[in-house]
Amino acid sequence: MTGFMKFDISRELYSEAIKLMPGGVSSPVRAFKPHPFFVSKARGSKIYDVDGNEFIDYCMAYGALILGHANEEVKNAIKEKLEDGWLYGTPIELEVKYAKLIRKYYPSIEMLRFVNTGSEATMSALRVARGFTGREKIVKIEGSFHGSHEAVLVKAGSGATTFGVPNSAGVPKDFVKNTLQVPFNDVQALSYVLEKNKDVAAVIMEPVMGNSSLILPEANYLKEVRKITLENDVLLIFDEIITGFRLAMGGAQEFYGVKADITTLGKIAGGGFPIGIYGGRKEIMEKVAPSGDVYQAGTFSGNPISLLAGYTTVKTIEKYNAIERTSRKTKKLCEAITDDLKNAELAFIASMFCIYFGKTPKNYSEALKLDKDSYMKFFWKLLEKGVFFPPSQFEVCFMSFAHSDEDIEKTANAIREAYENSSRN
Ligand SMILES: Cc1ncc(COP(=O)(O)O)c(C=O)c1O
Repeated sequence: MTGFMKFDISRELYSEAIKLMPGGVSSPVRAFKPHPFFVSKARGSKIYDVDGNEFIDYCMAYGALILGHANEEVKNAIKEKLEDGWLYGTPIELEVKYAKLIRKYYPSIEMLRFVNTGSEATMSALRVARGFTGREKIVKIEGSFHGSHEAVLVKAGSGATTFGVPNSAGVPKDFVKNTLQVPFNDVQALSYVLEKNKDVAAVIMEPVMGNSSLILPEANYLKEVRKITLENDVLLIFDEIITGFRLAMGGAQEFYGVKADITTLGKIAGGGFPIGIYGGRKEIMEKVAPSGDVYQAGTFSGNPISLLAGYTTVKTIEKYNAIERTSRKTKKLCEAITDDLKNAELAFIASMFCIYFGKTPKNYSEALKLDKDSYMKFFWKLLEKGVFFPPSQFEVCFMSFAHSDEDIEKTANAIREAYENSSRN
């Protein structure tokens, strides 16, 4: 940090945090060097740190906040509800209401279970896929991230890639011996693996990869994946924890016209509070306890505040047509900067975008070739200009409904200047 902004209080706090928490943080990708800034508050498109700096935020809590920070509708709903208490450990009416709303937009989700995080949702989705099929293997895509549980911590993208540890210590080999991997956008590799392995329960994938930079599916790839999984009688799990309520109300499944057998949702679906959801065909979900023999439970599952924040968020997105309007903002920003990037490239879809220091990747091994050091220089230059991008080339930028035209113009100028000063061209 060598620019004009002051980060004195953040630096001080970090020197204490590092003694108390691994890397000084509660989740790895937050720990950028030399130290992260500590946030005091956030409103709309802006996030403020303890030193009084203001940033236009494109991290948006890693995609959890499509309406921007502290959205009024969500805030008011929660404030009012807090009077009634916030945790009961019993069923509540909102579970039924929210489940119906989700089912309306995700016809492939006939039944669902509310859990607490995206990791819990994918962990449980894989368990029910295995319980339903009676098979043990799963196939994941190289560089996809489905949370930090054992079965999927192999070439897991995101924080794991940023810090150069694609496989985690502490995961016994036996726990991942049933996790097979194929590259994204490679239909033949998937066909081959499924033909060779007749004991695969499910293929799990992010339909649009958002944890190894942004990697878009090539034309017809997802339809082909659906066809191959059906031909091989293998379940298809779409991890829509990023894409759900973002690409379309019905997520990537609506956007690309492909139906999954099991879907996981999170992030936006909790309106900024912890949530995970997994759901799918009735016959599959009926395997889950207490109706079936696949056990999964949680004290905080179906948390009333998370459900209310999520439900209100989805209704607010609906009310303002926020997906389409936020997508237009993204297009506007991306089109404004495309010609200025020279050797860098850019891609966007709906409200997600990514500037690549290198070539636009089509799979994980191509993403690994991106110049992450130049990205980090760019990141710091941007921050000095009051724009907060995610602190890793392997993360994705998120526009929100709260970003204004003025924010977009300021961001476009900041990107041009920061890029000039950080690229190797
Ligand atoms: C696609 C995807 N799946 C699962 C997860 C895990 O979700 P959570 O962090 O809520 O456990 C993430 C988190 O970034 C994600 O991006």
